[in-house]
Amino acid sequence: MKDNKFLTMAIESSCDETSVALLTEGRNVLSNVISSQIKVHQAFGGVVPEIASRHHLDNINTVLKQALDEADARLDDVDLIGVTYGPGLVGALLIGLATAKAISFSKKIPLVGVHHIQGHISANYIEHKDLKPPFMALVVSGGHTNIVDVKGYNEYEVLGRTRDDAVGEAFDKVARVLGLGYPGGPLIDKISKKGNPHSVEFKRVYLEKDSLDFSFSGTKTGVLNYLNSQKLKGEEIDTAGVAASFQLAVIEVIVNKAIYAAEKMRKNKLVLAGGVAANSLLRDMLNKECKRKGIELFCPSPVLCTDNAAMIGCAAYYKYKEGMVDDLTLDAYPNLPL
Ligand code: KG4
Ligand code: ZN
Repeated sequence: MKDNKFLTMAIESSCDETSVALLTEGRNVLSNVISSQIKVHQAFGGVVPEIASRHHLDNINTVLKQALDEADARLDDVDLIGVTYGPGLVGALLIGLATAKAISFSKKIPLVGVHHIQGHISANYIEHKDLKPPFMALVVSGGHTNIVDVKGYNEYEVLGRTRDDAVGEAFDKVARVLGLGYPGGPLIDKISKKGNPHSVEFKRVYLEKDSLDFSFSGTKTGVLNYLNSQKLKGEEIDTAGVAASFQLAVIEVIVNKAIYAAEKMRKNKLVLAGGVAANSLLRDMLNKECKRKGIELFCPSPVLCTDNAAMIGCAAYYKYKEGMVDDLTLDAYPNLPL
């Protein structure tokens, strides 16, 4: 297929999705194959790291071949390899990394390691072809909750982070105690549509004045305490009402802090990223607030919200364009800072 377009191949394996993508010119996706292990981990109510690594190992070559076939490309056509090198589960990261390094070495293709969160933010460049920094980013996923001042393609300042649970993690834990299943985020989102979000007033945690940090464990514990007290009193639990009330308590804080950050830093663009970006209440509330404040809101489509390799390829492309290249000593960092 090789024409003169710059072809990036990317690999993502930081958690429970094995994904390989091919993109031209950094933003045009030719293929983005995602093999999800959700069904495997469902029985355990969460991701089991050792099992995740084994499944990545089983899947990676098939996913890679499918991505090349769908893009009508060969390894010899590839100009750049991007790979997630952190943060994430170390055993899972190593499978993608070893694959990327082997291809880079054998085919003499430049290698670029990508921070997973930089990938999530970059999903928006794929979705919105004219988007470019500077902007404010709200990153909400199973592992992260960050407000990031994006000053350039490779220049980030984290203004706020969670001090305990990530928002997706809190959704998953509350869904578990409500008996909804795993992963809990989409299930809470769905059942909340049938519940009254004001049936229980759970705590909104804003921390110190002007703080852009988050804390969700208090709200999560509030749900646990409420459920226990209802049980002790022998009263029935309105699952949809509790789910909707929890969701509103958490999303309200996230929306208010993101808008506050954009206004404070005089940014007229707000970019949403990460798995929880698929949440319908978050999207609705952000949409309304951004319109009211004259801020332009950018959201990726659902397939680009969850973990995928296309977003990693896009981030790798912009790192490469600014001369950031790695060598075969590139390692996996489970707690890599942005
Ligand atoms: O970005 P992601 O795929 O993986 C990480 O990098 O962590 O995010 C997965 C998280 C899970 O916690 C999942 O429950 C949550 O995103 N999630 C949602 C929704 N869809 C996925 N949370 C709330 N509402 C949703 N619609
Ligand atoms: Zn992610």
